Amino acid sequence: MTQERISSVLSEERRFPPSKAFSASAHVGSERERKALVGQADADVVAFWEERAKELAWFSPWKKPLVWKYPHAKWFVGGTTNLAMNCLDRHLGSARRNKAAIIWESEAGEERTYTYYQLHREVCKAANMLLSLGVSTGDVVAIYMGMVPEATIAMLACARIGATHNVVFGGFSSEALRERINDSKAKVLITQDGVMRRGEVVELKLAADAALQKCKTIKHAIVLRHTGDNVPMKSRRDIWWHERMADASAEHEPLALDAEHPLFILYTSGSTGKPKGILHTTGGYMTQVAYTTKVVFDLRDDDVYFCTADIGWITGHSYVVYGPLLNGATIMMYEGAPNWPNPDRFWDIIERHGVTIFYTAPTAIRSFMKWGDHWPEQHDLSSLRLLGTVGEPINPEAWMWYHNTIGGGRCPIVDTWWQTETGAIMVSPLPGATTTTPGTATKPLPGIKVDVVHKDGTSCKANEGGLLVVQHPWPSMLRTVFGDDERYRKTYWSDYPKSRQHPGWYFTGDGARKDKSGNIWIIGRVDDVVNVSGHRLGTAEIESALVSHPAVAEAAVVARPDAIKGNALVAFVTIKALPKNTKRSVLAEQLRVHVAKEIGPIARPDDIRFAEALPKTRSGKIMRRLLREIVTGAATTGDTTTLEDAAVLERLR
Ligand code: PRX
Repeated sequence: MTQERISSVLSEERRFPPSKAFSASAHVGSERERKALVGQADADVVAFWEERAKELAWFSPWKKPLVWKYPHAKWFVGGTTNLAMNCLDRHLGSARRNKAAIIWESEAGEERTYTYYQLHREVCKAANMLLSLGVSTGDVVAIYMGMVPEATIAMLACARIGATHNVVFGGFSSEALRERINDSKAKVLITQDGVMRRGEVVELKLAADAALQKCKTIKHAIVLRHTGDNVPMKSRRDIWWHERMADASAEHEPLALDAEHPLFILYTSGSTGKPKGILHTTGGYMTQVAYTTKVVFDLRDDDVYFCTADIGWITGHSYVVYGPLLNGATIMMYEGAPNWPNPDRFWDIIERHGVTIFYTAPTAIRSFMKWGDHWPEQHDLSSLRLLGTVGEPINPEAWMWYHNTIGGGRCPIVDTWWQTETGAIMVSPLPGATTTTPGTATKPLPGIKVDVVHKDGTSCKANEGGLLVVQHPWPSMLRTVFGDDERYRKTYWSDYPKSRQHPGWYFTGDGARKDKSGNIWIIGRVDDVVNVSGHRLGTAEIESALVSHPAVAEAAVVARPDAIKGNALVAFVTIKALPKNTKRSVLAEQLRVHVAKEIGPIARPDDIRFAEALPKTRSGKIMRRLLREIVTGAATTGDTTTLEDAAVLERLR
């Protein structure tokens, strides 16, 4: 984050208390109530979460609420439950039985609604379909789909039979898919012919076929017919979703699964080239996701809840699928792009479906601002009562625009801080209680202990920048990095290891500061992870994609602040030799395409700069800090004495 952004955030003093009308009917309706919950959690944090877990259905109760063996937590040990049963069966005995669970709209405008009753039937059928293909408890199922209801059905079917799902974002390339399938040893892949994006078909099945050429563990690919395009089907391996579903029974008893049964693996970027398979389990995840959805979004039975995240990201898992269904809510789900056919698509959806809660990312908000106020102004957005943001710090200007232009000045905004690793929201306003200020996610939720600390672990003073840590295990925390527990320990637990003073603190990778009122302001990542358009990318991953191109010798990727995307990617590249008859500009474009192919279009560098050499330390480490200073136009600060060849820097400038 630039100095300018830090100081603009520092001087932010606007205060927005919740309206009386909002507070009057909210789950947590005053600061006094919020403090009472925090007090209850502070007195006994484990008992606090036990109370929340008891609001859900269990086949058998737990024997121990928390077993902490640094750095591994087990929650609700000995208890058995089923997440799909909690999302579906639990609601069938109430008025929610015939309520819309999912209202889905395709990009082309087709609409489909699933009631809880119907969704339950489809999930049971899909569970039986998976069983008929030999998937059993503990197997991994990869899901490579777009935003279609069947993606949700596939996830819930896995949860129902105890198969661990590994959802791979449909915007990722076949290379990225293959890496994630192989790392997780998935047995079955569920995909679809294609998905619509800005009027064009994104060919998921073709990409999946390319990936599966080198995936030994996959026995079957289940293919949903969605766009209707002709796709090749490999005999014996590939199976049409509609054919198997037609034969599947709509009856299925949910399995009683251990609270610590692996629910899903979701890959996320870290500071090395290889993505990390973040492993989440059942009981704790379910408990925190259910509770946070209820209190942060203040869900009520008459809400229509619209989260724009893709199911391929953690926000899609926790707050498109599981959180709302656990609360018996109505989910608005949309297949396509926000600016198709026009930049008012979201506002149109909100108006036509009476959406009451809208949750999106700052990068999207900045795009809406750029597209112009006349788009939202054409629509009646008066159904909205609550707005949310996630994924990156929101700049006060975007916050104010969101508040006034979308929220009509009447909707509280919940700025929610959390991560793939945390599984659920950790720091956020409670909308009926918290006075918000643009740019801060405010305070930790009841039951969550976080602080901003120095490297040595001492607490930072008010407004002093430091590192954000979580100081007590929480129910929806990651359990490990799949297949690499050493990396789990090293990445998250080695900075503040267990000591006589504390049980071991989790390091988030974020820099932050706490103001005088205790509000937390996220400054940004302190590792080599960048946030581009609200998506988390490891610069090492992009660098390794670049050097896999035959012309490239070395690459270093850094972020440059960008008005819309939050960050743009700048790649410094040294080449072995310019390929014959190829201009630099052509090679630059080839490299951008190459990265898109290796990882996905989201990772495509915005800017490629060819260099004769990269600034390095004497021990050969690329000094990315100096490159960062070049792209942001900042003066070179800090130590350059370790630089091997000072002239390199001059030439780069
Ligand atoms: O840097 C923080 C930023 O996004 C990172 C987590 O990225 P990911 O695992 O992809 O999950 C994103 C969706 C939960 C964090 O380490 N981040 C997330 N939410 C916020 C945020 N930064 C500032 N404010 C937020 N509300």
